[in-house]
Amino acid sequence: MRILAVETSCDDSAVALLEDSSVIAERIYSQTVHSNHGGVVPELASRQHIEILPGLVKEVLSESGINTLREIDVFAATAGPGLVGSLLVGLSWTKAAAFASGKQFLGINHLSAHLHTHYTGPDSVEFPAVALLVSGGHTCLFNMKSWTRAVLLGSTRDDAAGEAFDKTAKLAGLGYPGGEALEKAAIDGNPDNVSLPSPLSDPTLPEFSFSGLKTAVRLQWENGVDLADLAASFQKVVVDILVSKLLFQADRSGAASILAAGGVTANNLLRTRLSEECEKRGISLFLPEKKYTTDNAVMVGRAAFAILCEEPSSCSSLSCNAFSRWSGTILKALCCT
Ligand code: KG4
Ligand code: ZN
Repeated sequence: MRILAVETSCDDSAVALLEDSSVIAERIYSQTVHSNHGGVVPELASRQHIEILPGLVKEVLSESGINTLREIDVFAATAGPGLVGSLLVGLSWTKAAAFASGKQFLGINHLSAHLHTHYTGPDSVEFPAVALLVSGGHTCLFNMKSWTRAVLLGSTRDDAAGEAFDKTAKLAGLGYPGGEALEKAAIDGNPDNVSLPSPLSDPTLPEFSFSGLKTAVRLQWENGVDLADLAASFQKVVVDILVSKLLFQADRSGAASILAAGGVTANNLLRTRLSEECEKRGISLFLPEKKYTTDNAVMVGRAAFAILCEEPSSCSSLSCNAFSRWSGTILKALCCT
């Protein structure tokens, strides 16, 4: 099954062509227009998607040896959550392509797509599983009994973990987005040299709160602490919280697998800590390849493949709309049936 997948939920324009779950060709354009603004400017993001997307599709089709859209079986695009203006670009383009070629269209939930980075077929993960989705916009824990049954255990009450990384990096003048730069800055730091609070750190609570940490970081920074020590301390606090809550839920539910996804899973301290803990417990750990931690279209294509493996006739309505927030408890990959 040939799937053309499109992702434009924020500031990455991405297109991928998959044969089932295998990647045939993919392109990602990470927008740089926002770097001087200290965050994503929604209107600039939408306008860039409009300009960039057609070229990316052309390159992906040409690299895949595809001459007409009719050679594609299924078209999938992220419908939300995300920036509505950005989402509408990818969603409208993809619906039009599906309509013009008379093929199935699937509107995909972005959060579910992140988890489906790990989907290579119905048996790719042993259940029950616990999943951590940790990105610039979300920090959520899910209990998964199957690919179609991901139940939200809890999420952040305020800032997402990636957002906290970005705000700390911005404060220290490391640019936007700053997660990776902050991780680099932390390499030479000693986390014990700067004391920071661990908000809502009780591992039994499946909820998170990172906004207080931001204030504590600012106060320490204004006291003139060393950047490397501050970055190391901040990173350790965030990773400790994420790991302890995830493992508590895994132990409690007797999870056979742990899935982690989203931009913050690029963080090496988080990756190492999770690998060590899962090895100790004999739990299978699914970490995305680094290039699939942040937003990409391959995860959207894999979510579409999973939907069709479960129910081949699934499709979304062509009036499927973009949405900014997801507020459910059971996470479904397919939007707007
Ligand atoms: O999943 P993603 O691309 O976008 C959303 O869906 O939000 O995640 C982007 C987030 C940003 O906040 C970025 O700072 C963070 O992932 N990030 C990192 C690292 N690389 C990216 N955070 C910590 N350490 C990293 N190495
Ligand atoms: Zn994302």
